[in-house]
Amino acid sequence: MRRIQVAAAVIVLFAVVTILSNSPLRGDNNDRTLSQKAQIGFSISPVKLNLQDKDPELVGLGSYIVNAQAGCNDCHTCPSYAPGHNPFPPPFGVSGNGEFNGANYLAGGIAFGPPPPVGVVSANLTPDSTGKPGGLTLEQFKTALQTGHDPLDPKFGLLAVMPWPYFRHMTNRDLEAIYTFLSAIPTAAPGSCSGAGQ
Ligand code: HEC
Repeated sequence: MRRIQVAAAVIVLFAVVTILSNSPLRGDNNDRTLSQKAQIGFSISPVKLNLQDKDPELVGLGSYIVNAQAGCNDCHTCPSYAPGHNPFPPPFGVSGNGEFNGANYLAGGIAFGPPPPVGVVSANLTPDSTGKPGGLTLEQFKTALQTGHDPLDPKFGLLAVMPWPYFRHMTNRDLEAIYTFLSAIPTAAPGSCSGAGQ
């Protein structure tokens, strides 16, 4: 009897270990499950994502970097927050809950300084008609973030205002994740705003 109990206990233990080690709750990063960062990335994306032909792990990680770390929305979404949701206290905002503006998400159009050619306007990073974010190939995108050279518009020689001096230290994988996320967001046009972070 006792031997049967021990055998039963061993079988149950084996089953529990097997189930736990295969569980998506483990939160690690392999083919079956998304990393914790990618999961957060999906939960905070302000827009519906097109995952067709894309690695979900890269899309989720890209969303995490863009929406939880790099602040791209502040300079590339005009206005940055959904109407009535700007989280900053008056007179800067309306003490809202900080919900991003999904309608014009990352479509650029924020002016920095006087009108061009003296000042700059942030670029539209959403997919163009061929699906390329901001019209850039992955290589061009990496060049822009790693060197500040704008492959589409070399007017100053280097991108102005854009924080490429920070972004250039990201890993190739992080840059590829951002690019993949930007390929998955909807194409959009800017709304109206008079500055960053509105
Ligand atoms: C402080 C404001 C600011 C932040 C934050 C910012 N950008 Fe920019 N970005 C700009 C401005 C302004 C330009 C246009 C600069 C110019 O034309 O000289 C630009 C240009 C770009 C370009 C070049 C587009 C082209 O057509 O060649 C890319 C790509 C880009 N940004 C991606 C990003 C991404 C991705 C993030 C977040 C990881 C980000 N930016 C965060 C201000 C910002």
